[in-house]
Amino acid sequence: MQISSPWKSDFPSLNNNDFCYLDSAATCQSPTPVIEAIRDYLINGQGNAGRGMHGLSEGATDAIESCRIRVAKFIGANSSQIIFTKGATESINYVASNLREQIGPRDSILITEMEHHSNLLPWQRLCRQTGARLNVVPLGSNGELDLTNLELLLNDQCALFAFSHGSNVLGCQPPTETLIKAAKAAKVKTLLDGAQYISHNPLNVNQLDCDYYAFSGHKLYASSGSGVLYCKDIESLEPFLLGGGVVNRASLTNYLLKDDLYRFEAGSANQVALIGLSAAIDYIQTIGLAAIMEHEKNLALQLKQTVESYHSFKVVSHVNSHNLVSFHSEKIHSHDIASILAEHNVAVRAGHHCAQPCLNAVGLKHCVRASVGLYNDSHDIERFSKGLAEIERNFS
Ligand SMILES: Cc1ncc(COP(=O)(O)O)c(C=O)c1O
Repeated sequence: MQISSPWKSDFPSLNNNDFCYLDSAATCQSPTPVIEAIRDYLINGQGNAGRGMHGLSEGATDAIESCRIRVAKFIGANSSQIIFTKGATESINYVASNLREQIGPRDSILITEMEHHSNLLPWQRLCRQTGARLNVVPLGSNGELDLTNLELLLNDQCALFAFSHGSNVLGCQPPTETLIKAAKAAKVKTLLDGAQYISHNPLNVNQLDCDYYAFSGHKLYASSGSGVLYCKDIESLEPFLLGGGVVNRASLTNYLLKDDLYRFEAGSANQVALIGLSAAIDYIQTIGLAAIMEHEKNLALQLKQTVESYHSFKVVSHVNSHNLVSFHSEKIHSHDIASILAEHNVAVRAGHHCAQPCLNAVGLKHCVRASVGLYNDSHDIERFSKGLAEIERNFS
């Protein structure tokens, strides 16, 4: 089946360059409406949001607040539950830093074995700092979470269950509703790392009933520099950073925090990135996530069949992955595969994907990941296939 993308022409970076981009799980290209929104903002003059009485500052403030409303609608939240960060990593660290004063040696944090380092390292450090225990839901040999001991791990000492809403290596999603239900039954709070979920699936955090949700704008066709932390109970949160914009009053010895959302976002906002995020959300909503999902699912299947057609490569991603295919070769290092593909102007990612425990669990140290976005088509997969064919010829 020949798959074409009706949206490819919206992406200048893909149309102006002769490359085949199969690395959207790392970061997405941006469509013209995002680029133009950012350009318009800069051309018309930027102001510092929340910091001035003049039009440019007020315009920047309005732009940020309208982004907050868009993000909230997009994920089924209330805008008063949305905090802007610079990315999923910062959002997760935000929550980890909050727990530092709240937990001790009797407590535990629960994660899974398939986490990105962004949802692993902050918890490791938190546990070192507080003496709490880091418990892990293991990955089974089938690449799915082994939930045998879940109820034991979700005990009254567990302060938080933090897990990925989509794996960046295996491409699978955990049984999210079951996990949240089990956590709620045990009165354990949940944090979902939605970095790999957000651009591929509809999301309603209110229905999911998670406590925290983290994602990055650059994986949603915006630029880098914008991130979101959804927090169900915002009043329970302490500001992560302190600085400009967060206080009503400050003296040399004390400060009084604002009582609105701004107390959570110290320092000048990344206005450019947030203006891009607004435009990206509008763009995606115009297309509709259902159409995106269908397109990506077909592409991912074609990618998988392509990799499987070469005896040198073995697919390691999950059978249900609908946006990426990870694979490895026993004879050829993943970095060599990616470098040769790069010589063919085919962009994929190789290495440990910042998820070393996940790779170890499937018996690997590294692999190659090809991932799709709404702009990919069968032509991209043909180019990828030509690259694989040459690698197989050269190394056999
Ligand atoms: C599952 C997952 N979580 C977190 C992150 C971190 O995202 P960022 O680097 O945008 O903060 C990534 C990035 O690839 C990811 O794939």
